[in-house]
Amino acid sequence: MALLIDGKKIAATIKDEVKERVADYQKEGKEVTLAVIQVGQDPASTVYVGNKKKACAYVGIRSLAYELEESTSQEELLELIAKLNARTDVNGILVQLPLPKHIDEDAVIHEIAPEKDVDGFHTQSVGALCIGEPGFVSCTPAGIIQLLKRSHIDIAGKECVIVGRSNIVGKPVALLLLRENGTVTVCHSRTQDLKEVTKRADILVVAIGKPKFITKEYIKDGAVVIDVGIHRDENNKLCGDVDFADVEPVASAITPVPGGVGPMTIAMLMHNCVEAVALQDK
Ligand code: GUN
Repeated sequence: MALLIDGKKIAATIKDEVKERVADYQKEGKEVTLAVIQVGQDPASTVYVGNKKKACAYVGIRSLAYELEESTSQEELLELIAKLNARTDVNGILVQLPLPKHIDEDAVIHEIAPEKDVDGFHTQSVGALCIGEPGFVSCTPAGIIQLLKRSHIDIAGKECVIVGRSNIVGKPVALLLLRENGTVTVCHSRTQDLKEVTKRADILVVAIGKPKFITKEYIKDGAVVIDVGIHRDENNKLCGDVDFADVEPVASAITPVPGGVGPMTIAMLMHNCVEAVALQDK
């Protein structure tokens, strides 16, 4: 039987560590503050933003909520970000994605001051990650590395295969696994003979957005399988990109959906917010 990598438990531990650091800052008279901006009322975004605010309340981070109308112009949003950039009492700025179609997401992400970019989406953050300089690492990829490390799974020298090359998950995970001395291969929609590549993996990270796509035929015996996907299956049950029931018997460790990668994203966001204070202190 595979080790079940318990993201819920690991995320709870990380949030408790953050809570202690926030309390230490409070003893020095410093408040940690995150500004969360949502434009429009996309229902999934409302749930994510609500969970982020709840996590802030739990760890003792002050959250400033900006709930803007769907019709908000790009200029108005950029002006708000510029104001938050200038405020010394705001440590982190998060703009929930996706944004309404009339707003250029790249322009918005670029407006966020890199030292407040707790999502790690700014090109400066991504560039720093690429060349091994300090900077914010986006939350889901950083969470995947924490899942592996805190489950005592060695990365150095291992064959790491990532399925999916998005800017938010696939590419940064590849850079992080490389930083941990893994041998990294990134697969995507144009990869020929995907199974042949994934079957080499000691550590397989799947982020393709296709429910139950990865079956045991894609897995080497004893591989560690990290599932980034989240979907509803034909019975309205949550499932990942990996067919869990099929793959679990051949894996040595696997993340469940829900309760695997998902809870780590918010835990790492909380971590990035306290890191922001440390960075801004320098
Ligand atoms: N939308 C989906 N995931 C994310 C995330 O991690 N950060 C932001 N800002 N928006 C998202």
